Amino acid sequence: MQTDISTSLNLDATVGVVIQYAQKKDVIIDKDAAIFLSKQGDYKVVIDSAYKDKAPFLDLKKAEEILQKLGSSVEIVFEKKADMSNLEVVVENRAKRREAKEYTSKMKMMKDTDITNNTTGQGKVSDFVEFVRDRYNILSGLIKKHNNFSPVQSSGIKYSAKGVEVDVIGMVYEKRDTKTGNLMVIFDDNNGFFTAIFDKNKPIYAQARKLLNDDVVGIKGVKLDEKLIYASEIIFPDMPVATPKKADIDLDIVFTSDIHIGSNVFFEKEFSNFIDWLDKGEDSSKIKYCVIAGDGVDGIGVYPGQDEELAVKDIYKQYEIFSNYVEKIPEHIETFIIPGNHDAVRRADPQPAIPREYLKKLYGMKNVHVLGSPSMVEIEGLKMLMYHGNSMNELQAKLGIHFEDPIPAMEAYLLRRDVCTMYGGKNPVSPDKGGVLQIKEEPDIFVTGHLHSNGYGTYKKTMLINPGAWQAQTSFQKQQGHIPTPGRVPVMNMKTGKILEKVFINEVANM
Ligand SMILES: [Fe+2]
Ligand SMILES: [Fe+2]
Repeated sequence: MQTDISTSLNLDATVGVVIQYAQKKDVIIDKDAAIFLSKQGDYKVVIDSAYKDKAPFLDLKKAEEILQKLGSSVEIVFEKKADMSNLEVVVENRAKRREAKEYTSKMKMMKDTDITNNTTGQGKVSDFVEFVRDRYNILSGLIKKHNNFSPVQSSGIKYSAKGVEVDVIGMVYEKRDTKTGNLMVIFDDNNGFFTAIFDKNKPIYAQARKLLNDDVVGIKGVKLDEKLIYASEIIFPDMPVATPKKADIDLDIVFTSDIHIGSNVFFEKEFSNFIDWLDKGEDSSKIKYCVIAGDGVDGIGVYPGQDEELAVKDIYKQYEIFSNYVEKIPEHIETFIIPGNHDAVRRADPQPAIPREYLKKLYGMKNVHVLGSPSMVEIEGLKMLMYHGNSMNELQAKLGIHFEDPIPAMEAYLLRRDVCTMYGGKNPVSPDKGGVLQIKEEPDIFVTGHLHSNGYGTYKKTMLINPGAWQAQTSFQKQQGHIPTPGRVPVMNMKTGKILEKVFINEVANM
């Protein structure tokens, strides 16, 4: 049984969550540091940093130091559990306060980023060949934009003299350790193969070890032989270094995902409170946009034995309940819904929008936009990429990232400019034309779901947001030792980039 730390120390629940997270990471945290972190910043980032630094004890001074070192890349305010008792009073003043209601939304669906109504892949060998070639061309095009990088094709290496610097782009085909302990990576560049050697005594070696099969990267190095390079630099497609873009308008976006309606551990009352809060909450009056980042329902037949964990066993009924909630979202809030792996749409990425037959009511609503995963919209001049995160578990496993932490995985997607990082791996992929799995446009906001663990951060110019869930710990998560963070809702102000996290579930008490 979980200990309710917050109660035993007479602290509020959010502080308890911070302490609990520190315990999980084997970081001893004192009370003052926990209170400080619960109010001032992303506690996970600070605790992770203490863990990485092997700091045995995290006191207030150390927490402040780490936070200062990390900079103000993302400012987060943690709220106590939303107080629903004032709602009636708030309703009386609504006309004066609903700033978002008075404002006409400015948004653009970026259709080229969404596979809905555009699927072409039939699984033929020729489809896959074309898919791999398109992906390579898109990613190598992004790499070519880097300064001081003038690649030749693998067949052109022979024209350079030995010992001279050469730049090549390639897709990782195979990684091998040499007898002397260096790393040898064989690349395919659609034109042939070449090999790069990564010296075990150079800093680049650690970076090369993390290359994944099918990663498309640029290699800078010195020619050793016709097809052999001694590598000195790896260039990923990556995002440019830039300051995060902000909108002119002082309005908010609210993010949620993984509602899992139909599951017998769905937090029905708390989710209903959240929906009510959108309409009547004292601090929800600036919300103009809402993202539901997949797994709106628990689905049926998603995993063996799921039937026993379902309170609603009919998929149409699950979507009817889901639709009833979405219908209650005030109509001045533009709501984007993408699918996840539990939704009634193909499991392979890219996933098209949930079909009309399941969401009849919502398809008829002006403020509801049912889109694919991934897909991108532009709101108030900010490009927002939405992707449920179907490939995230595999990516985390391959990169050695903790399965509860969405931020490093989101960074890995942006570094590779690709959410299809594991082509040929466990995550199924449909070989559609158009390269919608590659992140061709630079997002200002990137939202995922799937992990049931909240996380916030910035990577280069992009705000990263992973809202938690509305489902308690499942039996599968229990086996994994995964403690989800349900009922925590990030609200981002588009003008300041500041994130307010509303807490609708007393997390510690519910574990
Ligand atoms: Fe989920
Ligand atoms: Fe999911």
